[in-house]
Amino acid sequence: MRAWKQTALTLGLVAVSSVGLAQPAPPSDAQVKSRVDALVAQMSLEEKVGQLTQAGGISFGGGPGPEEALRRGGAGSVLWVNDTKRFNELQKIAVDESRLRIPVLYGLDVIHGYRTIFPIPLAMASSWDPSVHERAAEVAAREARAAGIHWTFAPMLDIARDARWGRIAEGAGEDPYLGAAMAAAQVRGFQGPYLGAPDRLLACAKHFAAYGAADGGRYYDPVYVSEGQLRNVYFPPFAAAVKAGVGSFMSAYMDLNDVPAAANPWLLRDVLRGEWGFSGFVVSDAIAVRNLVIQGLARDGKDAAARALAAGLDMDMASGTFAQNLVALVKDGVLREAQIDDAVRRILAVKVRLGLFEQPYADEARAAAVFADPEHREAARRAAQRSMVLLRNENKLLPLPQSLTNVAVIGPLADSKADTEGSWMVFGHVPAAVTVLEGIRARLRGARVAHAPGPEIRREVPSFFEDFIPGPKKPAQTKEQAEAAFQQALETARGAGLVIAVMGELANMSGEAASRSSLELPGRQQELLQAIVALGKPVVLVLMGGRPLSIGWAAENVPAILEAWQPGTEGGHAVADVLFGDVNPGGKLPVTFPRNAGHSPLYYTGPMAGDEVAQLYVHQKSGSDSRPSRELKGFRRVSLKPGETQTVAFPLGPEELRYWSTSQRRWLQEAAAFDVWVGGDSTAALHADLSVVP
Ligand code: NOJ
Repeated sequence: MRAWKQTALTLGLVAVSSVGLAQPAPPSDAQVKSRVDALVAQMSLEEKVGQLTQAGGISFGGGPGPEEALRRGGAGSVLWVNDTKRFNELQKIAVDESRLRIPVLYGLDVIHGYRTIFPIPLAMASSWDPSVHERAAEVAAREARAAGIHWTFAPMLDIARDARWGRIAEGAGEDPYLGAAMAAAQVRGFQGPYLGAPDRLLACAKHFAAYGAADGGRYYDPVYVSEGQLRNVYFPPFAAAVKAGVGSFMSAYMDLNDVPAAANPWLLRDVLRGEWGFSGFVVSDAIAVRNLVIQGLARDGKDAAARALAAGLDMDMASGTFAQNLVALVKDGVLREAQIDDAVRRILAVKVRLGLFEQPYADEARAAAVFADPEHREAARRAAQRSMVLLRNENKLLPLPQSLTNVAVIGPLADSKADTEGSWMVFGHVPAAVTVLEGIRARLRGARVAHAPGPEIRREVPSFFEDFIPGPKKPAQTKEQAEAAFQQALETARGAGLVIAVMGELANMSGEAASRSSLELPGRQQELLQAIVALGKPVVLVLMGGRPLSIGWAAENVPAILEAWQPGTEGGHAVADVLFGDVNPGGKLPVTFPRNAGHSPLYYTGPMAGDEVAQLYVHQKSGSDSRPSRELKGFRRVSLKPGETQTVAFPLGPEELRYWSTSQRRWLQEAAAFDVWVGGDSTAALHADLSVVP
């Protein structure tokens, strides 16, 4: 179908019931407990501390691998390995050679896919369709589990309202309600109906908490937010993950109101376990326990280990600080062995529930067949289609006709596989990706589809992740080379009937350690875009990247703009599907696009293009605290045939109307007057008054 569908929504406010998942029987709590008790009773203090230690499976700087630690029961978990054969070799040491034969738990960052890469999480949130994110997590789990991984360090649940912060790419954006829905969906997708379900992974809700509120959007910087903001804005996705049964948590790196999250008893004990009843285990972020010294909290490694464990942290990721100090801390009487036992029990319980004792090994012959499942790529293509947001479409330039015969696809991202797959792809499989150029060429067979990348773009300060990429580094373009590339791109555009400019950010410009102080298109892309538009031809801008960019000029001068984010393995096909009208670009922005970096942090401010997501907003007009001018409290993405009408129902009860009061330091649902709006975006105008009476 070439024409995009028209939508017509009728919105009502009635309660709906939810449908539960069928639950195959997991081991009972009593079975898990007796197994864990039996193990703990046999363990030496050293072996217990081993279970609280996560070792790096690759050594940075030529240090020893984890073999020796596994042999003496000195590591309960290993991370940063991505090789099925090696998993099995290491597992064999743990299972055959260590005294108690406790299997090792393998963790890895399976963020938006393992082999088949899905759009980045920020893109998936743009789908406003939790089922898409759930399916992506399910596929990622299936592939990663087949490869031998048990545990993913995902979902990343940090609300981010400052586009300068690089890790905005990894989360669901600025809204806690949407973030909570996406959090639960990912936990369901990764873990399935119960911990240990076949083909699934243990999920890890990270980074607890408020990491996305870093001062000035600067990566690793401290966070100062009120308890009200924490509870009303930053906590809801984490609370939703607990409710969905997530099995592990990762503490954040930074200081939260002057107490580092990895040693913050209020966060890890009072809120997470005390209030929310979380019964899984908490791992630190990498090297974070050792960092407590650098952060100015702990005197030395010993003090750091004592304070982190006492605060409720169970596992030390890759810093060796627990391994070096916990035994001595118990012997010195600073910690009680019972405190160590509690942490060990939580970790062993997860290992039992995952079925690791029954099935510690991966089937090396199976992984390739799982990776080749065509349904995985289909799911990735659908997810990318659903994630794209139409930001502008003047004079119905889109959808494009299939009859085009002469097109230029211009820009540094147009034919870059790695940048199409996106950030957090340290362990990804790049050659399989379909670029936008390839997607357009596959669509317009027989037509002339010319390409020129234009001047290169690159980070001014290299990312430390670049050190993982083997081989010599590509030298930067000289000014002369860049100018020649600019002119060649312009000439290529001049020779075409229509130009598709694919511009934005490289994958390594967002993600970890990738904050930016400017939100402009990097390099000479803006200049090239302006020169192309000046040619007077129809121009479509396909934006790629991991954050909102300042596209003020383009928003007024480029007739059609599609936000494709970092769309993953099938990204190029999905872009073509949308541009040529096979699918409706019905996604919505889950973050605000600031006109300028100076507007950050910014949320809820402008109109969004697109259609088909029914949304409900409320505003409490007065109360014990001043309340936000709008808060999202319901949404549903609906697919409509041309001319079709649907009624969408949203529950609106105490759960949706309560908030954490900073003045009263408790949850409140007040007798007050509310505005209620329903519509297609945060400027929805269809309004009703609502009164909650005492
Ligand atoms: C550091 C990152 O902050 C975290 O998100 C990741 O899971 C760990 N490293 C492990 O790679």
